[in-house]
Amino acid sequence: MANLDNIRSSATIENRLGGKIAEYKMNMPEHSIIAKDIHKSYFEGPKEMEVLKGINLEIKTGEIVALVGPSGAGKSTLLHTLGLMERPTSGELILLGWETQNENNNKHDILRNKYIGFLFQFHYLLQELTLLENASLPLRIAGVKSQDAMDLAGELLASVGLKERMAHLPSQVSGGEQQRAALARAMVGNPAILLCDEPTGNLDLERGEEIRDLIWRVARAKCSTVIVATHNPDIAKSADRIIRIVNGKVCTI
Ligand SMILES: Nc1ncnc2c1ncn2[C@@H]1O[C@H](COP(=O)(O)OP(=O)(O)O)[C@@H](O)[C@H]1O
Ligand SMILES: [Mg+2]
Repeated sequence: MANLDNIRSSATIENRLGGKIAEYKMNMPEHSIIAKDIHKSYFEGPKEMEVLKGINLEIKTGEIVALVGPSGAGKSTLLHTLGLMERPTSGELILLGWETQNENNNKHDILRNKYIGFLFQFHYLLQELTLLENASLPLRIAGVKSQDAMDLAGELLASVGLKERMAHLPSQVSGGEQQRAALARAMVGNPAILLCDEPTGNLDLERGEEIRDLIWRVARAKCSTVIVATHNPDIAKSADRIIRIVNGKVCTI
C-alpha cells in the first residue's frame, strides 16, 4: 500500500512553495502553458470537422488543473495538442516559454520527450517488460545509463508503493498497480508538465482515489504543472482550478 501521508488535497500553489521548489520555480516562466485562440480541425476528405474552436488558456507553473466537460467536447484533443502530439490547425501555443508554432516537428519531439509526461486511461505498459524496466524506459530512451535509469525508476516505483512489485510483469499485478507504474513511468524524467487523460476511468473508486492522491503528491513534489481530463468530480474538486470545455470552447460559466 502506498504511503499517502502528507497529502494535502486542497493545497494552493503558493503553500507548496518551500525551499528548493521555490528556487527551482524561480527559473521557470510564470506560465508553463499559454494557448491563444487554438483551433483544431479534422478532415475527412473535403469535410472539415472543427473540434477545438478558439481555446485560450493560461496555466501557471506548478498549477494543477482539472479539465471537465461532456464526452466529445474536445478534452482529449486539447490534451494531445497541448502535449505536442498533434499540431493545432491555427493559434499559438507557448510551452515553457517556447513558441511551439514556430518550431518544426523534430523540435516538438525533443520538447515532448524532455518536458512532458502523459498518463492515459489505459496504462500502455509493455507487457514483456517488468514494471522497473517499463518505468525506466523514458530515461533509457533519453540516453541515461542503464543502472542510473533503474535506480531512479526504482525510487519512483517505491514512492508509489510498488517496491515489492518492481520485478513483476504488468500482467502479474492489479489494475491499480499497473496505473501506478504508468504514473512512475510518466514522471521518471521529471517532466515540467504532466498531462493525464481520464487516469482513473478504468479503476474502481478506491483505486481511483489512490491514483489521484499519488498524481497530486508526485506532481507537487516535483513541482510539475498538471492538467487532468476527468469525469470524476472528486478529482476536479481537489485540483487548484477547474476548466470546463463545452463544444470545443472554454466555458466560463
Ligand atoms: N483523430 C480524429 N479524427 C477525427 N475526429 C476526431 C479525432 N479525434 C477526435 N475526433 C472527434 O473530435 C471530437 C472530440 O473528441 P475528444 O477530443 O476525444 O473529446 P473528449 O475527450 O472531450 O470526449 C469527437 O467528436 C471526436 O469524434
Ligand atoms: Mg477524451
